[in-house]
Amino acid sequence: MSNTRPVKVASEHTALTARKVSFAWEETPLHWVPGDPFATHTINVLHLLLPAGERWFVHVYKQVLPHIHDDRLREDVIGFIGQEAVHSQAHDDVLPHLRELGLDPTPYTAQVDWFFEKLLGDRTLPPGKPRAWWLKERVALIAAIEHYTAFLGDWVLNAGELDRRGADPMMLDLLRWHGAEEVEHRSVAFDLFMHVDGSYRRRVRTWAAAFSALVFLWQRGARFFMENDPTLPDGRASFRDFYRAGTRGVLPSTPDLLRSIPRYLSRAYHPSQEGSTAQAVAYLASSPGANGLHDKAMKDKGLDDKGLDDKRMDDKRMDGKGVDDNGPDGPCPKGGR
Ligand SMILES: [Fe+2]
Ligand SMILES: [Fe+2]
Repeated sequence: MSNTRPVKVASEHTALTARKVSFAWEETPLHWVPGDPFATHTINVLHLLLPAGERWFVHVYKQVLPHIHDDRLREDVIGFIGQEAVHSQAHDDVLPHLRELGLDPTPYTAQVDWFFEKLLGDRTLPPGKPRAWWLKERVALIAAIEHYTAFLGDWVLNAGELDRRGADPMMLDLLRWHGAEEVEHRSVAFDLFMHVDGSYRRRVRTWAAAFSALVFLWQRGARFFMENDPTLPDGRASFRDFYRAGTRGVLPSTPDLLRSIPRYLSRAYHPSQEGSTAQAVAYLASSPGANGLHDKAMKDKGLDDKGLDDKRMDDKRMDGKGVDDNGPDGPCPKGGR
């Protein structure tokens, strides 16, 4: 059999830091992809899923930290925790603006919160193998989800059609800053999964669960936004709309999405084979939101800073210090490899 082990591209590794960001939503229109509510709302689903989803990543990874026996991986995971905490907050900050525009996401976010906090949350399991099993299962789920966050990050960094159609620059910057950090840290979740377990059967099983859940939640979210958009008398969302938007280049293409499946399931897969760290880092160096330029613009205009201030950034989350070292009782998931 040819490659049966992940083939890592070492040059794609970079040290991770959580950047302080700020965005100002006052001037972002409801349909920020002009004339395309479906593409707008399909991407808007990120604002529904990511606040709870990325808080859950952080929650799970804090439990895994005591079981990491590789210093570089531990540093990567701490950097990952810091970045995901900021992502979660940045998308959460879009929701009040959507409410002001007449689109209250609360009924949907309540379901998403239940999904991550209850269904995928800590369970009342006896110490030992059951708790270790559930932790490994969730680490593998996150690795599968991160395959798609990296895919989407790479897509949005290269989605020139959104620029050509005049998409709102503030929203594009949020998506590209986030997408760039997803590309930057795309190997961490997979490396952590390989460190604590690495079972191929678990990789396949959790990919199937994660992919099904993402498709289910995403199409529900897109339908929710389309049906509740106050400017659309008969808003609908269908797979055909998604496919067509992909051919226009305003959403990821369905063939590209399908081709990403066997890549993740290949035994030779490693996230460093996909996307470009150099491109991600270059965007991050120029991102207005990640370089305080929106802050400055707001101050110049005399507006209140609605960005992420130090209080909300929560320094403990930012650098991963002070994280709970009381991991799940019972045996460490498989040690370093
Ligand atoms: Fe993220
Ligand atoms: Fe991520």
